[in-house]
Amino acid sequence: MKKKKLKYFGIGILGLLIIAPILHSPQNLSNDLSNDISKKFPVPDTIRQILKISCNDCHSNLTVYPWYTKVQPFGWWIQHHIDEGKRELNFNEFSSYSISRQFHKLEKIKEEMQEHGMPLTSYTLIHKNAKLNEGQNELLIKWAISLQDTLKANFPADSLVNPNRKKRG
Ligand code: HEC
Repeated sequence: MKKKKLKYFGIGILGLLIIAPILHSPQNLSNDLSNDISKKFPVPDTIRQILKISCNDCHSNLTVYPWYTKVQPFGWWIQHHIDEGKRELNFNEFSSYSISRQFHKLEKIKEEMQEHGMPLTSYTLIHKNAKLNEGQNELLIKWAISLQDTLKANFPADSLVNPNRKKRG
């Protein structure tokens, strides 16, 4: 009898371990657009569409969560990518960034797209439609450059660089 109780206890704990994170998975669903990049910069429809399909799950305030994100540990792994992606670059918060951060992030977008580093391969393996073709890649690069030009035209050169940021290789 005692052994049986222990067994049920074990199963209970196991069940809790599986269910708790499902109940408490932090979700990126605020969809707050008050500081969206489009508040300060032109975002043509083609670009908006690319961002929506290929970037926003990890770089915005609104992630579309497929069912398997409820299955742990995939869910944790995916949420980690979302948190990290958002911390690095959030298109819905872009307008609240300092001018130098905006300029720097545009540079990073250019770099990532030139290296075909985004969207992450682990993502496009499942989200096949998020994979960008050369044309779309090029569009994003040109858009980032045009936004940088806008900043250059409107702000003094020294406000575009953060003197505290160490040059990364
Ligand atoms: C599956 C999630 C995911 C998707 C989708 C995604 N990213 Fe990322 N992105 C990340 C993560 C995680 C990082 C931070 C780690 C790294 O650099 O690999 C990152 C980093 C970046 C950076 C570097 C920021 C910096 O300051 O170093 C840029 C730029 C970027 N992403 C642009 C994009 C663009 C543009 C798209 C769409 C074409 C995109 N990402 C799609 C997850 C994603």
